[in-house]
Amino acid sequence: MRGMNKKLKLITYGCQMNVADSERMAGLLAQIGYTLTDDTDAADLILINTCCVRATAEDKVFGQIGRFKALKLQKPNLILGIAGCMAQKEGANLLKRAPHLDFVLGTGQSSEVARVVQSIERERRHVVDTSNVDSQPNPQDATSRCRGGNVSTFVPIMYGCNNFCTYCIVPYVRGRERSRQPDEIFAEVKQAVAEGFKEITLLGQNVNSYSGGMSFAELLSGVDKIAGVERLRFMTSHPKDLSDALIATIAEGVHICEHIHLPVQYGSDKILKRMNRVYTVADYLRLVEKIRAAIPNVSLTTDLIVGFPGETDEDFAETLNFIRAVEFDAAFTFIYSKRSGTPAATFPAQIDDATKHRRLEELMAVQNSISLAKNRALEGATVEVLVEGASKTDETIYTGRTRSNKLVLFTHGDERAGDLINVKIAQAQTWLLKGGA
Ligand code: SAH
Ligand code: SF4
Ligand code: F3S
Repeated sequence: MRGMNKKLKLITYGCQMNVADSERMAGLLAQIGYTLTDDTDAADLILINTCCVRATAEDKVFGQIGRFKALKLQKPNLILGIAGCMAQKEGANLLKRAPHLDFVLGTGQSSEVARVVQSIERERRHVVDTSNVDSQPNPQDATSRCRGGNVSTFVPIMYGCNNFCTYCIVPYVRGRERSRQPDEIFAEVKQAVAEGFKEITLLGQNVNSYSGGMSFAELLSGVDKIAGVERLRFMTSHPKDLSDALIATIAEGVHICEHIHLPVQYGSDKILKRMNRVYTVADYLRLVEKIRAAIPNVSLTTDLIVGFPGETDEDFAETLNFIRAVEFDAAFTFIYSKRSGTPAATFPAQIDDATKHRRLEELMAVQNSISLAKNRALEGATVEVLVEGASKTDETIYTGRTRSNKLVLFTHGDERAGDLINVKIAQAQTWLLKGGA
């Protein structure tokens, strides 16, 4: 039982892809004796899986790395490692900035995490490896994944991105698109179902360009047929290649939820062009019309960026009009963050912080009133909820989600996590629905 009972504190930032990678790395580290702990002081290994999509994400990690310096001094055997997108982007720079780090492992080397940790256990030395950004995780990894939660889980279907939106760092830190084989994906879904998961979300930066020997629509339809998958979701879809076949598949699907996260990013053609999104506002509106005609009750969510270089008051007003016209169920709104190495970082007419913040607030106010109105329309309706469990603050209150991915709070009867139940909506708020008796 060599080296058993070691503790791993795993901290994950960023998107669902990072969550999935963290669970995979936790599985690999479990094989060499590390069990997860919440207690940082008890940890033998602290691994931070990082994001660099916006400067704020990186600032958080730098703060965290700094705070662990004192702990390293107290516990010289503590291993402190950085993985993920910021590790990929910064590489050895991280070690220069924080010499108390033991290792920096890029996104292409996550399958090597256990080997790297073992080598550091044997001989204390620094490891920096950001090679093979275009590699795929070892297919074997998936079988040992330590999945968090108990109801809903992620299954990556592809890695990387080829789109090079001019603001975005992801293609640089995640490499080119490559797809997993359908058999591998189906096997992972079956395993997750066998572990008790009811809801599967298929993940990729742009799932519609899946190319593992079948189309994404065919893959989705295949997963829909796997026994035990009670709800099926996917993200993210790029508007440029969301196909008619996919819309039809969602409409006909049994377990495929009526929700599409379809990031538009902006509502003016001038800015969309500069962002290299390769669709126009009119294209997007046509797509929304097609989706809504084919899938009744579909919920649409989006991502929006304000403060992109060159954004004028007129562009911004167009965007407000655009979101009023579409009526998204919800939107994630971001302030443009300059990422060095991306084209937009060198574009002229960068927007000042005060303007960015003012526009963000205005955008959020408009969208919030739309979200509230959409949710209010559900008052009195009975919706199907997948029960997630007791709320953190009150164990008589349970939480779950509708098929449209809206959060529902309701009074707990004898439901259990993983049950599909019908809840009557008594009251709607901007971000959630409250169920009645
Ligand atoms: N592949 C997905 C997710 C990318 S990252 C997609 O294309 O939608 C998630 C979101 O972060 C993006 O949709 C975008 O809205 C936002 N984002 C990316 N780069 C950004 C930047 N430099 N500044 C602000 N927001 C950014
Ligand atoms: Fe970034 Fe665009 Fe790729 Fe999404 S599609 S990850 S926003 S480059
Ligand atoms: Fe995800 Fe952030 Fe990387 S959004 S892909 S973790 S840069």
